[in-house]
Amino acid sequence: MGFEFAGRTAFITGGASGAGFGQAQVFGRLGCKVCIADIRGEAVADAIGRLRGEGIECHGMELDVTDREAFAAAADEAEQVLGPVTMLFGTAGVSIFGPLENATYDDYDWIFDVNFGGVVNLMQTFVPRRIGHGQGGCIVNTASLGAFFANSGSGIYSASKFAVHGITMAMRDALKGYGIGVSVVCPANIKSNIAESIRTRPERYGQSGYAVDEREIAALHEIYSQGMEPEELAGHVRQAIEENRFYVIPYPEARPMLESIFQQALDALPPSEHDREGQEKRHKAMMRYIEARKAMDTERYGKSTR
Ligand code: NAI
Repeated sequence: MGFEFAGRTAFITGGASGAGFGQAQVFGRLGCKVCIADIRGEAVADAIGRLRGEGIECHGMELDVTDREAFAAAADEAEQVLGPVTMLFGTAGVSIFGPLENATYDDYDWIFDVNFGGVVNLMQTFVPRRIGHGQGGCIVNTASLGAFFANSGSGIYSASKFAVHGITMAMRDALKGYGIGVSVVCPANIKSNIAESIRTRPERYGQSGYAVDEREIAALHEIYSQGMEPEELAGHVRQAIEENRFYVIPYPEARPMLESIFQQALDALPPSEHDREGQEKRHKAMMRYIEARKAMDTERYGKSTR
């Protein structure tokens, strides 16, 4: 319990708008130095102006989170200007909705490259710089309630968020011995500009199976205008960091959906007394593997993993 925010440097992808900007405000007010990285350069400049207006020490840069070389350069720049980055926020995200069977490879690639690839690139860039430096820290990746549930219309987006959920859970395990807490945010609805995200889709992902027009963008704006304020959501993130809690899902209305999903999974299990012999055989095999794995990993990497 407890986390010292003041004096740390936070790096926030998608920090020019919505949930990311809310994080910049909330953690900046707690005394963090804040670097925001976003694909929209003008929005970065506006956001930096607002943060400085509040007296927050900050730095902004235009960055496409899918660009690994640029990411490494951005990390160097952030650390030169603001010092060692020990708080990572993988918040940049884009969405596209429509019948899954209409999707093209470009639709899959764009959504996965930004939503999942962006989180991977953030962690690959910064984690090796910071683990073992004894400064602790945190990583907070933003998935979605769609990390638990998928339907045709939100299929690619949800699949990318399932992936964010999975890798973030694994990173929490990987970093537990380094004093770096890892959390995943699964929002239902945030007051943000994500309805406009189609406008950031680069030319190289030009072939789409979806016809996103102004009518759809307006309809999406209508939903998101009723969403949780980004600063309020960031307040919940702050609490999760302080408690070193994995899930941030501050939406009570999600309960019936989550109960129904997990109940379906539980209902698919045979009763516990079923196939005792097989259970024991499988369990023993797994334990043998874990022991062997520990020994091999200690020999190869100087540490044991599972
Ligand atoms: P937003 O559109 O206001 O903010 C996202 C920011 O990411 C934008 O400033 C955008 O320019 C930036 N971005 C997009 N592509 C980028 C790229 N390739 N490289 C760098 N920056 C990029 O949207 P919002 O809602 O604040 O989104 C934040 C996160 O919350 C996203 O991961 C989104 O999927 C997630 N989310 C949003 C929900 C909502 O209701 N708005 C619900 C559930 C999850």
